[in-house]
Amino acid sequence: MSAAGGTFDVAGVSIPKLGLGTFDMDGEAAVVAVSEGLKAGYRHVDTAEMYGNERAVGEGIRASGLPREDVFVTTKVWHDHLTDHAMQSAAEASLDRLGVGQVDLYLIHWPSPDVPVAEAVRALCRIRHRGLARAVGVSNFPAALVEEAVAAADVELAVNQVEYHPYLDQDPVLSAVRRNGMGLIAYCPIARGKVLRDETIVGIAERHGVSPVAVTLAWLIAQDGVIAIPKSRSPQRLRENFAAATLTLTTEEHAAIDALRSPSGRLIDPDFAPAWD
Ligand SMILES: NC(=O)c1ccc[n+]([C@@H]2O[C@H](COP(=O)([O-])OP(=O)(O)OC[C@H]3O[C@@H](n4cnc5c(N)ncnc54)[C@H](OP(=O)(O)O)[C@@H]3O)[C@@H](O)[C@H]2O)c1
Repeated sequence: MSAAGGTFDVAGVSIPKLGLGTFDMDGEAAVVAVSEGLKAGYRHVDTAEMYGNERAVGEGIRASGLPREDVFVTTKVWHDHLTDHAMQSAAEASLDRLGVGQVDLYLIHWPSPDVPVAEAVRALCRIRHRGLARAVGVSNFPAALVEEAVAAADVELAVNQVEYHPYLDQDPVLSAVRRNGMGLIAYCPIARGKVLRDETIVGIAERHGVSPVAVTLAWLIAQDGVIAIPKSRSPQRLRENFAAATLTLTTEEHAAIDALRSPSGRLIDPDFAPAWD
């Protein structure tokens, strides 16, 4: 698959580095965001059974008029469906709601304290063996759990999807995924809008004549193995954000954004989260 902004090729799939997040959107809003996003050039859509919008996302993909094989579709299994029986049924239900015969990527959304990682990963691998997904991976796995997952898997794991933006240092998990030949999908890539008020990023954006969001996304996707999935319900903002696909920052600009990172900049930390790095 070729895509503006490039792709990360892993585990037999080619993942467009700029994707569309869909959390907190349902119904017509999700249909419009997905179809307009795809018309604007995105070729990668991220959803999850937990978002309750897989039907709308599927409808949005069909409304874009693009052939199914031109759109990279990811969905995720919630952490209460990690036993083999529950995961196989959850995947079948997700495919049914999306209206596709197979997704491109299927992820364990969060590790669960109730189901050992090895057991969940064996169930995940069976999703791939059964052809329900072209590739599989994990989400919200700290470095130690990435190693456990890789050790238990009998297929290549493609990615770990985690929170990553200019305010969160993710070096330990980045090293773990790179060591294992995996990609890192950055969620909350624009820190839910915080980058819009950041002096450093706004200054760089003004120099390039683009938005601070586009600068942040360009910073992310220029990193080895990093993929970003910003979300917007506005077709105009989706187009504005897609400027990242053709934006190149200087080494000094990258370093200035690198310097904003801190270990404590996490936005998403539910009570069922694992022990972070
Ligand atoms: N695996 C996981 O556990 C997990 C967790 C969280 C998220 N995710 C995935 O990652 C995706 C992205 O994360 P996110 O949605 O939480 O956060 P995000 O993409 O960092 O930020 C989304 C917010 O930024 C706003 N925004 C987007 N573009 C903008 C622009 N150009 N100007 C001003 N505001 C803008 C959006 O508002 P408007 O919509 O009004 O434009 C929305 O409120 C999700 O949608 C989901 O697919 C995964």
